[in-house]
Amino acid sequence: MILTELLKPTEIERAAELLKKGELVAFPTETVYGLGASIFKPDAIQSIFMVKGRPSDNPLIAHVHDTTQVEEIAQEIPDSFYRLASVFFPGPLAIILKKRDCVPSVASAGLDSIAVRMPSHPIALKLIELVGGPLVAPSANLSGKPSSTQAKHVLDDFNGKIAAVIDGGKTDLGIESTVISLLGVHPVLLRPGNITKEAIEEVLGYSIEVASTAHQGPVLSPGMKYRHYAPRTPVKVFYSLEDLKTHLEEQSHQGSKMLLSRLSVALSFPVDHFVLSAKEFYSQLRHADEMHYGEILIFCDEQVQKNAGIMNRLIRSSGV
Ligand code: TXA
Ligand code: MG
Repeated sequence: MILTELLKPTEIERAAELLKKGELVAFPTETVYGLGASIFKPDAIQSIFMVKGRPSDNPLIAHVHDTTQVEEIAQEIPDSFYRLASVFFPGPLAIILKKRDCVPSVASAGLDSIAVRMPSHPIALKLIELVGGPLVAPSANLSGKPSSTQAKHVLDDFNGKIAAVIDGGKTDLGIESTVISLLGVHPVLLRPGNITKEAIEEVLGYSIEVASTAHQGPVLSPGMKYRHYAPRTPVKVFYSLEDLKTHLEEQSHQGSKMLLSRLSVALSFPVDHFVLSAKEFYSQLRHADEMHYGEILIFCDEQVQKNAGIMNRLIRSSGV
């Protein structure tokens, strides 16, 4: 057990000092909180996997301050990278490239590739600058659980297990970055997020593939095969109001219900309604566990169904 320091945004230098010593520090990004270690400290990276309970075959994203740092850890960088980076960096896009030998294999989970992302959060950028090199950082949550969008969530999962967390308040976007692979001839979208497939295609000028979980052959993104974002409370997803109403009639005895929907809906059973949004989603899942709800019911109207980023997270939180 170690004392986990809760650092203010004015204490980034302290956080950088800890990271340089090989400690783990959680920090805010514009998507979710990351659990960071210096990319050149393999022992620290190893302990990220340990404290999260993360399978060792699931690689980490390297967070960089600028494209020079990308060139220090990646090689054979295609032109498409520079086109995407010029529009989307800094921002919520992680790009998978061929790695250089200087990247320890524990960071890339033994793969010969590395995901790179330049976060736009000023605390994250400043921290990477002060450390003087990339930080690998998965989302700062116990493996399989909802990601952390507040410093409090990080402490709930890691108090006493990591050196520090920088409190940057609530993160802006609330879901993780879009992940795209540029390893093959055609780019492949591995994880949807705020930067959409269409926005990427517009920049590249051609259409890109989307990896489905039903993808045959080798797993493109190891993270996709694991259960994710799941609270203890059972989650059920509905696409029609009729189905939601039928469920409520049949399951009225199953304890109190949290309903997440974009708009409020008229129901004859009492439910606690919360507004469904990417920004609040993970926080609401954690709240449901704390309040011991019997079920989390999510109603996806047509507008929600069009949002690939939130749909991916809510379907996976239901364990499907
Ligand atoms: O928004 C984000 O990306 C956040 C913040 C902290 O930056 N980070 C994050 O990291 O979501 P993590 O580790 O929770 O998710 C990274 C995903 C995983 O699904 C992983 O399998 C995939 O990216 N990934 C990372 N490197 C990869 C690689 N070299 N090849 C294939 N997939 C990779
Ligand atoms: Mg994660």
